[in-house]
Amino acid sequence: MIYPITVYGDPVLRKVTTEIDQRFEGLEKLAEDMFETMHNAEGVGLAAPQIGLALRIFVVDLSALGEDEPLLKDFRRAFINPQIIEKVGEKVLMEEGCLSIPGLREDVLRYDTIRMKFTDVNWQEHEEIFTGFPARVIQHEYDHLEGVMFVDYCSPLKKRIIKGKLSDITKGQVSTSYRIKVPRS
Ligand code: NI
Repeated sequence: MIYPITVYGDPVLRKVTTEIDQRFEGLEKLAEDMFETMHNAEGVGLAAPQIGLALRIFVVDLSALGEDEPLLKDFRRAFINPQIIEKVGEKVLMEEGCLSIPGLREDVLRYDTIRMKFTDVNWQEHEEIFTGFPARVIQHEYDHLEGVMFVDYCSPLKKRIIKGKLSDITKGQVSTSYRIKVPRS
């Protein structure tokens, strides 16, 4: 099932999300729906608030980049109740976009390497180190679970420059190849 994607200005994107309980029903289906919604929008990551749910789950699929980066060929993962337990090394600048902020891309500084604890859809616990592009995407998605969006990192000047664009997005005045849920409609 493909969900409409919430966009900038929707209060759900500003919530600190809730941990998912082991009694939660339909976790696997939810993850698959999130993958489907993300693929339909040609994204590489999607967090639950982006489909209107304030829950601690996000999905990442980097397998489409596998042609250039063989290590990413099988990188298709759902992260449940993730915790970033360590951020390591240098911060790296890279341009980011977000399905909830269509048409806008900005440079964001993030750590190159993180250590994370999380469970998968079968409630198996994992502790893993991610580095490079996967670490970038994971930190972006993790932020969504904390109510943080990448434009929050922009300088005050940059924020003034993009203010109009963000306001247009909030009103649904933006063109996307996928269905969005407009906050003020
Ligand atoms: Ni995003």
